[in-house]
Amino acid sequence: MLAAMLAATWVAPVAVSGQRAQFAPHAMIASNSTPASEAGVEILKRGGNAVDAAVATGFALAVTLPEAGNLAGGGYMVVHMADGRSAAIDYRETAPRAATRTMYVDASGKNTGESLVGYKAAGVPGSVAGLYEVQRRFGRLPFAQVVAPAIRLAEQGFVVDSMTARVIEKCAPLLSRFQSRDVFLRDGHAPAVGTKLMQPALAKTLRAIAAHGAEAFYHGAIAHALAEDMHANGGIVTEEDLAAYKPAWKTPVVTKFHGYTLLGMPLSSSGGITMSRIFAALDTIPIAPLGSVAQVSALTNAMRDAFEYRNTKLGDTTAVASALRQTREGNETTHYSVVDADGNAVSTTTTINSLFGAGAYTGSVGVFWNNEMDDFAVQPGVPNQFGLVMGEQNSVAPGRRPLSSMSPTIVLDSTGKLLLVVGSRGGPRIITSTTQVILNVIDHHLTLADAMRAPRLHHQALPDTLLYEPQGVTSAVADSLKAKGIATAETPSVGLVDAVLRVSGGYEGMDDPRRQAAAVGY
Ligand code: DON
Repeated sequence: MLAAMLAATWVAPVAVSGQRAQFAPHAMIASNSTPASEAGVEILKRGGNAVDAAVATGFALAVTLPEAGNLAGGGYMVVHMADGRSAAIDYRETAPRAATRTMYVDASGKNTGESLVGYKAAGVPGSVAGLYEVQRRFGRLPFAQVVAPAIRLAEQGFVVDSMTARVIEKCAPLLSRFQSRDVFLRDGHAPAVGTKLMQPALAKTLRAIAAHGAEAFYHGAIAHALAEDMHANGGIVTEEDLAAYKPAWKTPVVTKFHGYTLLGMPLSSSGGITMSRIFAALDTIPIAPLGSVAQVSALTNAMRDAFEYRNTKLGDTTAVASALRQTREGNETTHYSVVDADGNAVSTTTTINSLFGAGAYTGSVGVFWNNEMDDFAVQPGVPNQFGLVMGEQNSVAPGRRPLSSMSPTIVLDSTGKLLLVVGSRGGPRIITSTTQVILNVIDHHLTLADAMRAPRLHHQALPDTLLYEPQGVTSAVADSLKAKGIATAETPSVGLVDAVLRVSGGYEGMDDPRRQAAAVGY
């Protein structure tokens, strides 16, 4: 009786802590899941560096944030080491070899919807390969040690908090269509808040990955099970596709802005380039007060122009050229920010695109398949789930990576010292929410908590309307914007940011107050 009452009234204790930034003197991790941030801190305390901790948090998110954390998804990471080395790794999903430009369009020219739900929506996953590769290059601890907290969380279970229960309940109709129902639903509903959610199949997969590295996921029994389940359910990812997957090391996009240096993500994410264009437009004009007509209209124009460029010019064109050469002979989201006691920093955003990805779930492996293929222009010129209208340069092609908006970013101050590690979730709103938290800190000198709380704006060229969070634009400002030809409309929220900021004596970290997990440090 008491247990039932407690379960019914159990509220995640992090809900209040999410309203303010956490402070710690040495190191800090901000993610969408408190136990996943704790997993990273555990690794830091065992002697790991920021990369070890980020990888530990990444694997833990695959357990504790099932709607977005993942093994069968992909992402991007920017690393800045205290010795000055910087790198970016693209572990985005890739279109399978059997993918075709019109695979999501029926004979009458209509979108079939299969880029969003079900097995055919999945690209070849990159998360395991990416996390393994970055740990191999920059990590300090044995790989198995870094995966251990995630195994424990999958085996022993994690406590279902109100946020997790809410998202499972919301997506119950999707989950009930796939093997995921056996793990995540109880009589068709979310598990009760305060109960433990165990994932034994995922634990077994994580154990294999811990023991044998990425190889265990892309070759052998796991790859075979994934490909078989795909094949049985109309998907096109094969064992050969899995075996061929490679993450790509890249050079970060470097942007100079008001004396600061921003390290951003290059293609196949549009994040770094689009942000760079927004900052370039703002760099040359005076800083106007936050929320003023001058500030809002300058930001709106910068966002609109940058998105126009993004949507019409950017795509994974390099990959396609090489994939085509190969063919002639033979392409929901979560951000986490980590800083360790030496000042090494990791900014990474990873996704399965929609909440619980394609819904498709291979039960024996314990993973949700991404629906990242929907980030392609599956019908060039027709809006995707985020309303993005993109062109031929981002059409579906084998070996190509769908254009992303993920924007993991690291900001250095004018002396080259680490200042801010930041990124977001929310499709195209990732770019604009990340940009505004940076602007709020650099230009408007807000504290981290205020920078995160401040209402955000969003413009993505099409639709040609400035979206604002409640109270983001006063009616007087909206009237003045209208006179300048800028249409406005309210939207519930723009992005979910996770950030770590260097402050006097240590670091502040914060998960977006719109979500409210706790950042964890020591
Ligand atoms: O890569 C992208 O831009 C999208 N797949 C991100 C999706 C996303 O942020 C959904 N999350 N809330």
